[in-house]
Amino acid sequence: MSFSLRIKNPLFIGRHGIYTARMGKESRDWYNSIAQRNGGYKSDAQFTREGLSGEVEFEKRLMERLPSYDHVLDIGCGHGEFTLKMAHYTKRITGGDNAEEMIKIARNLLDKSTLSHVDFLPLWTHQDFPFPDETFDFIYNRRGPTSILRQARILKRGGRIFAIHPEGVNFERIRTMMEDFGFDDLTIEEFNDCYIYFENLEEMGKFLAASHCNPDYTLPEHRKDLEQMGEKNLRGGRLALQEKRYIWSVRRK
Ligand SMILES: C[S@@+](CC[C@H](N)C(=O)[O-])C[C@H]1O[C@@H](n2cnc3c(N)ncnc32)[C@H](O)[C@@H]1O
Repeated sequence: MSFSLRIKNPLFIGRHGIYTARMGKESRDWYNSIAQRNGGYKSDAQFTREGLSGEVEFEKRLMERLPSYDHVLDIGCGHGEFTLKMAHYTKRITGGDNAEEMIKIARNLLDKSTLSHVDFLPLWTHQDFPFPDETFDFIYNRRGPTSILRQARILKRGGRIFAIHPEGVNFERIRTMMEDFGFDDLTIEEFNDCYIYFENLEEMGKFLAASHCNPDYTLPEHRKDLEQMGEKNLRGGRLALQEKRYIWSVRRK
């Protein structure tokens, strides 16, 4: 009789213990399915933002920084729309994501563009990346995997990872990874003044259905849950969700 061992969440060992791959098959399946359903990590939900948005601020700061780098990595690039937008501000950019459907869409978008300094690659942060040491002088991470810190060796010494994540990001884990993988100078800024307003429940449903690992709230079987969420998320009588974000950054020692 023979046994085969299947490791669902691969392990890696740092000085502070054992890390497991957080992104399981379910999560990758979800990103693949939203790519097929919506043509990427996006939706056509109509909404307006009011207040200082971390997302808007992140994009603005990124555009200011990108021109000074030779080769940039966008980790967890999704379907690549944002990478292609940022490509106009830098010399060379690579987008990596472990959801194959996302990479397929990103490559199609790239083919339709006139850009020749962009690549999209399937990359999973829990496996060694196929790049020589110190390939990139900057890595950005727009709500992608924080486990990118494991891949320190591909970033030039003194280079930074610049990231934005919603509430729930685990800074305890990030601090531990920083020590294990040779980073320092963690900076964190919180943005929670922004609200996203919807005209009606349908628009809010479309928006939520395309948010990280949520069920498809546009379907009748999730209508009750959506209605309850609508009741809980009223601001001045309007349907609204608070946008809470952290912009953070670390430097490779
Ligand atoms: C919230 S989406 C953000 C997509 C894109 N950055 C954007 O702003 O539109 C997160 C992306 O990270 C990818 N991802 C999550 N964990 C990953 C991992 N461990 N390695 C590589 N990609 C990962 C997902 O497949 C998904 O496309």
